[in-house]
Amino acid sequence: MKKMRVGILISGRGSNMVSLINAARASDYPAEIVTVISNRPNAGGLKLAQDAGIATVVIDHKLYATRMAFEAKLHQSLRDAGVELICSAGFMRMLTGGFVDRWKNRQLNIHPSLLPAFPGLDTHERALREGVRIHGCTVHFVRLEMDTGPIVAQAAVAVQPGDTPELLGARVLEAEHKLYPHALRLVASGAVRVNEEDIRFAPPTDTPSPLFSPPLKP
Ligand code: GRF
Repeated sequence: MKKMRVGILISGRGSNMVSLINAARASDYPAEIVTVISNRPNAGGLKLAQDAGIATVVIDHKLYATRMAFEAKLHQSLRDAGVELICSAGFMRMLTGGFVDRWKNRQLNIHPSLLPAFPGLDTHERALREGVRIHGCTVHFVRLEMDTGPIVAQAAVAVQPGDTPELLGARVLEAEHKLYPHALRLVASGAVRVNEEDIRFAPPTDTPSPLFSPPLKP
């Protein structure tokens, strides 16, 4: 099977990165992780990637005079590794239109909310403040505006009485670790295709029953 060549962008601890690396170990998984790139030299995920035998690259944005120069290096590094699809996983650097266009429909991101609700930071805190009963996470194709773009997959997480941002965030993170490998599988296998701003799923998927929060049965 020809596997899609994936490069992961990180800035921090890299737990989503690890979930993708682990999923891609399976012989029938349609993607392989060929490089992990961090814009922060001290990102914890770098060591985890190395331990997993994945080549890592540090491109420290602080060493580049402009965003364009940083992104040119990033682009080159991805090309050098033969990357076909980027998975951003906790990559905390805004990308300019030039980069986003070059990788249009070839870059995924994971975000810890049910987009389009709560783009940006502090999503768990904001979800609790707004009193939503269902929160979650989203994998989407990247567009210029932060945390926008065609949605590939989402996981819903029920808010529980007494939740704190930490407790809720931990349950969402657990869901993220299942969602990202699932979404990457859909994209890499061709089961999901993006056409302009439309996502097409093939074959049609079963519709699971709704999640009620609070649950119907007390
Ligand atoms: C995750 O919650 C992800 O959704 C967000 O940043 C966090 C990164 O965590 N974009 P990790 O580095 O993957 O552990």
